[in-house]
Amino acid sequence: MQVLIAEDDRSSSIVLQGVLGALGYDVLAATDGQTAWELLRDNDCRIVISDWQMPRMDGLELCRRVRARDVGCYVYFILLTSRSGSHNLVEGLQAGADDFVTKPFDAEELRVRMKSAERVVSLESRDLIIFTLAKLAESRDPETGAHLERVREYVRILCKRLQDDKACRGKIDQDFIQLMYLSSPLHDIGKVGIPDNVLLKPGRLTDEEMDCMREHTVIGGTTLDAALASHPSASFLRVASEIAWTHHERYDGRGYPNGLAGKDIPLSGRIMALADVYDALTTKRVYKDAMSHETAREILLEGRGTQFDPAVVDAFLAGESDFLRIKKMLQDSEPLAPQATPALAPTAS
Ligand SMILES: [Fe+2]
Ligand SMILES: [Fe+2]
Repeated sequence: MQVLIAEDDRSSSIVLQGVLGALGYDVLAATDGQTAWELLRDNDCRIVISDWQMPRMDGLELCRRVRARDVGCYVYFILLTSRSGSHNLVEGLQAGADDFVTKPFDAEELRVRMKSAERVVSLESRDLIIFTLAKLAESRDPETGAHLERVREYVRILCKRLQDDKACRGKIDQDFIQLMYLSSPLHDIGKVGIPDNVLLKPGRLTDEEMDCMREHTVIGGTTLDAALASHPSASFLRVASEIAWTHHERYDGRGYPNGLAGKDIPLSGRIMALADVYDALTTKRVYKDAMSHETAREILLEGRGTQFDPAVVDAFLAGESDFLRIKKMLQDSEPLAPQATPALAPTAS
């Protein structure tokens, strides 16, 4: 694992590098905050040990910048300090520091703190598991390409814009955004329970088949609820369940599976609904061409207050340029054709 040391005191830096190197870490070192910041941008460092006072940028500012940047992975931040007193501790915590090591440091203490840092960083494998699960579900629905990657970015854009909305004030914080980002790829997990002849049918679905397809919300929601019952503290499962249940509900109450309306639909589901539809409209599927952003925008606007929460449509308009950026960046290379396992291939009728 790569670790960055930001320390202007040469002798202290050398000792730190020696201890961490002996513990098996791949160590990068900077002697000022600005250089540390640049190294962080260009390398995949998961743990930072930073001095408090440094030239060009102090440790607090470095920490704030690490917390403010938009990267998927969590960086564990340890502030190295000879200061003491609760005021400084609070200041460090407010900047986003995870832990503190007081100088002169004790090698054994540092080893133990690094272990706890590793534990936190490894929590991220949880995120990887979630995404793998979602990809597994998506593998049964191959026409969707990079749908999950795009949709979770769209969800994040909407959340950020909604932070400025009066109705959502106080409901959306960093934790909520992170949970939405983590959980949104699970929205269609229930599709694993839909038979191939419906899921992979190239033509229009009959009413009966449509009813069957709609069951993916119930299958997904129920499955995630069962997981949540055995792990009630796993907040991502709660959000994932909300999303699975409600991403096809409509603001006017004409959606499915429960016909919830307005604010009875959890905010997570209202956000997901727009992100999902925008992506479906603007990407090519076997049964339709991709619409332009402008046409999709018109459709979303028409659905303001009927299909979609007006506040979420407004958030889309405010973040339109970011939507376009993600759409361009995560384009599907080519339209994928549905594939069934041979034994279960749908008939061509
Ligand atoms: Fe769905
Ligand atoms: Fe979707």
